[in-house]
Amino acid sequence: MSRERVKVGVIGCGNISGIYFKMMREVYGNILDVTACADLDESRARARAAENPGVRAVSVRELLEDPDIRIVVNLTVPKAHGEVALKAVSAGKCVYNEKPLTVDLSEARQLLAEADARGLLIGGAPDTFMGGGLQTCRKLLDDGAIGRPVAATAFMMCHGHESWHPDPEFYYEKGGGPVFDMGPYYLTALVAMLGPARRVCGSAGITFPTRTITSEKKRGKVIRVETPTHVTGAIEFVSGATATVVMSFDVWAHNHPCLEIYGTEGSMQLPDPNGFGGEVRIRKAGDAEWKSVPLTHTADINRGTGVADMALSLLRPGRPHRASGRLCFHVLEIMHALHESSEKGAHVRLRSSVDMPRPVPPGLPPGVLDD
Ligand SMILES: NC(=O)c1ccc[n+]([C@@H]2O[C@H](COP(=O)([O-])OP(=O)(O)OC[C@H]3O[C@@H](n4cnc5c(N)ncnc54)[C@H](O)[C@@H]3O)[C@@H](O)[C@H]2O)c1
Repeated sequence: MSRERVKVGVIGCGNISGIYFKMMREVYGNILDVTACADLDESRARARAAENPGVRAVSVRELLEDPDIRIVVNLTVPKAHGEVALKAVSAGKCVYNEKPLTVDLSEARQLLAEADARGLLIGGAPDTFMGGGLQTCRKLLDDGAIGRPVAATAFMMCHGHESWHPDPEFYYEKGGGPVFDMGPYYLTALVAMLGPARRVCGSAGITFPTRTITSEKKRGKVIRVETPTHVTGAIEFVSGATATVVMSFDVWAHNHPCLEIYGTEGSMQLPDPNGFGGEVRIRKAGDAEWKSVPLTHTADINRGTGVADMALSLLRPGRPHRASGRLCFHVLEIMHALHESSEKGAHVRLRSSVDMPRPVPPGLPPGVLDD
């Protein structure tokens, strides 16, 4: 712990916050110093503080007024992401948001502009593309293992979350649905492998206008569906590669792999992008079967990796961070474009672009992100 660490405050102490606290303290404790946490529900903040010695439970206002905190990790619900992040930026903090960056594009645009004007960094989930599974895929692509990528498929299909989630209503509100909920993992992985997208077309629909909760506590409650729950689309990348995507809460079962990339000299099967490890498989032209490829990067990391990477960029100004606000914004624009194209009946050309995030060097131990 010899060098300077970056002080972090967490806003939103719900379900996903546990793994963030664990990783930020145990794996990235030499970069990050988590000092405070807050939640609208004070008992949740107190519970996290009690589990994590050295962390104080405070109000959101107190956290934002703490001059020592440089990064706010915003783990609130999607519809609060924009408002909480804008307040943090106004208070002079860099912000790392859970996905999606915000619900509305205009809010995300404002967030990036205000942060730029103040010289602050914005970052956001997912950071799973920095894990051993997807970094191995990126290295294989960079090494030419399957030639030039020409196409990809991304399938995320299930039957929604009302059978297990205790409060599933938000999945069927604006900003919910399969694209905004799970799309960030798949689309960020595609942009990290294939580069920025150029245009998008989509077809989106609501198969079931209502959903009946079957999980406990709210069993029997009927939810009105306000957002498309089955979205099919095509994404054209600047490189010329195209991706077929299907994101659905309307499918009971399927047999498609999560993600595949097809190159001029072979095909690659990627692991589930909602994780940091998983199996990578390759089948080159002429091969009789798929071969499993050993991971070249550590998979012993988890959420919080993107926060540590952003903190390193504060300690070493000029160093680009990987899970950047610009990457999140580009993915958010793709997600909106899938819906907008369906409404308009035409391709939607994207206005934003982003550099591919720098690959993580192979062979580094957990907690280390640069050579
Ligand atoms: N639960 C998961 O498995 C999971 C996985 C990956 C990403 N995420 C993302 O993480 C985020 C949080 O998800 P979660 O499952 O932890 O939700 P959650 O509902 O369990 O927790 C969210 C917390 O934020 C608090 N909150 C809401 N608005 C707030 C505000 N304005 N100020 C302060 N606190 C506020 C709530 O009181 C709650 O405690 C979401 O964006 C979700 O998409 C969740």
